[in-house]
Amino acid sequence: MAMSAGDQESELLSGFQPPFEHFATRALHVGQEPEQWTSMAVVPPISLSTTFKQSAPGKHAGFEYSRSGNPTRNCLEKAIAAVDGAKYSLAFASGLATTMTIAHLLKSGDNIICMNDVYGGTNRYFCKVASEMGLETSLVDCTSLKCLDAAIKPNTKLVWIETPTNPMMSVTDIKACAETVHKHGDIILVVDNTFMSAYFQRPLALGADICMYSATKYMNGHSDVVMGLASMNRDDLYERLKFLQNAIGAVPSPFDCYMCNRGLKTLALRMKQHFKNAVIVAQFLEADPRVEKVIFPGLPSHPQYKLMKQQCTGSSGMMVFLIKGGLKNAETFLQNLKLFALAESLGGYESLAEHPAIMTHASVLKKDRDMLGISDTLIRLSIGLEDVADIIEDLRQALKAAHPNVITPVEKSNKSLRN
Ligand SMILES: Cc1ncc(COP(=O)(O)O)c(C=O)c1O
Repeated sequence: MAMSAGDQESELLSGFQPPFEHFATRALHVGQEPEQWTSMAVVPPISLSTTFKQSAPGKHAGFEYSRSGNPTRNCLEKAIAAVDGAKYSLAFASGLATTMTIAHLLKSGDNIICMNDVYGGTNRYFCKVASEMGLETSLVDCTSLKCLDAAIKPNTKLVWIETPTNPMMSVTDIKACAETVHKHGDIILVVDNTFMSAYFQRPLALGADICMYSATKYMNGHSDVVMGLASMNRDDLYERLKFLQNAIGAVPSPFDCYMCNRGLKTLALRMKQHFKNAVIVAQFLEADPRVEKVIFPGLPSHPQYKLMKQQCTGSSGMMVFLIKGGLKNAETFLQNLKLFALAESLGGYESLAEHPAIMTHASVLKKDRDMLGISDTLIRLSIGLEDVADIIEDLRQALKAAHPNVITPVEKSNKSLRN
């Protein structure tokens, strides 16, 4: 008997590793204990005070000054560590502030190996800012362990990967990468886990030293906070990063910590629905004659689907596709979307679409964009939590506007039914 669309869909969703144990409970309760407040508040209050009274010089109740530690930030950091399966977590003012603080673990003359396909701002920070302070960066295709191994030099101190990558959705084997990196001694492996969130991927359990996020995306999930996070198990890394968090001072506000902590409470629910909607959208786009190619790691058509199933518990709402034609067709498609907002960023409850070559990855050198495949017809989608039928309808009408002369098989059969 042939499988129904619904059966096919649930088979795709359940083909991944089971979810991490107690995930939702940890996200809701760790670090949120009412007993820590004299008021016994069930929801952690927003602690706006910048300073805290001491009973004698140097004698305090855990907090001195909000840059070095804040009760609302503390609640968030504990919950994040719990969902990452980590001993520690630290929050920063943005994803890039996290990247910068991590880069301060190194000293002038050290080498960083950065995956060649990463968020444009990460590339810009390493290649155009950290380089000015004496840190050398090599851009390497870390999906190839051979390339990674060959690129490691005596002064390599940090390897930075993003998996799946932004925007090309390439997947790196985190476990194998950690083994390769650590074989060379004390090199820190950082995984930017922004695209998967803690719900779908746990880099520390696979051997990474630091798991970082732009919490601006899925971890907060409501497109109303700019924040970064870093989780780790190593005491030495935590102590140094905690020192740097205070010494550099790129900390988030208590209000933003409250908001992100609130967003985290629905992370499990949101990620399941993002995945479900994304599978349906990717299948729709794959079947559309106006689409050249879809790159979505949650579908068997992705070349590293097997690896995704090995190291993730699902896939998020992130995908890219190539529209047929040229830049004009891509622009017409994007300008005709009604439900999707044409905007940078990703991972919020709302669907977003963008043009990486002109928008998020404009800071990547043209030759590097060409080498990676960030072409004029590449479109990135962040599939939100709207009813999926409405998402599909919006894509369908925008594709029609971009290619008015193409009659799709669906339109053909609707026409013949009417005649
Ligand atoms: C994968 C990834 N990492 C890091 C960042 C930087 O984060 P932020 O914008 O919070 O500084 C982004 C931003 O888009 C991103 O997509």
